[in-house]
Amino acid sequence: MEAYTEKVYEHFNNPRNVGVIYKAHGVGEAGSGECSDYLVIYIKVSREKVIEDIKFQLRGCAAAIATSSALTEMVKDKHIGEALAVTEADIVNYLGGLPEEKMHCSIMGVQALKNAVMNYLENLRSYW
Ligand code: FES
Repeated sequence: MEAYTEKVYEHFNNPRNVGVIYKAHGVGEAGSGECSDYLVIYIKVSREKVIEDIKFQLRGCAAAIATSSALTEMVKDKHIGEALAVTEADIVNYLGGLPEEKMHCSIMGVQALKNAVMNYLENLRSYW
């Protein structure tokens, strides 16, 4: 089994943006099909559609913690269009790689973020 990179350990030991945003503009959830891990992402979005704040809650493995933390760091202060363009491969590259058997752990973040943005857009539509 391959080892985790320094950056994975760093995000695992000191995860960014953990928690809940009360009255979030969008909330998205995702579970892993390969295990029972589960992720919830909360976003606050500006009028210019920039993600001003993002937080996550997770029941998951070390790689899921690191990839979720990395994702929030990557998309904070980004336009929702840019944030939606972030892929699992981008997250893995940002962390300097993941062991092959842990590659699937990055999928939940991308899916939960997509669901949070969709939820934000639906909330926006119902507001108007
Ligand atoms: Fe389930 Fe990592 S082992 S997401």
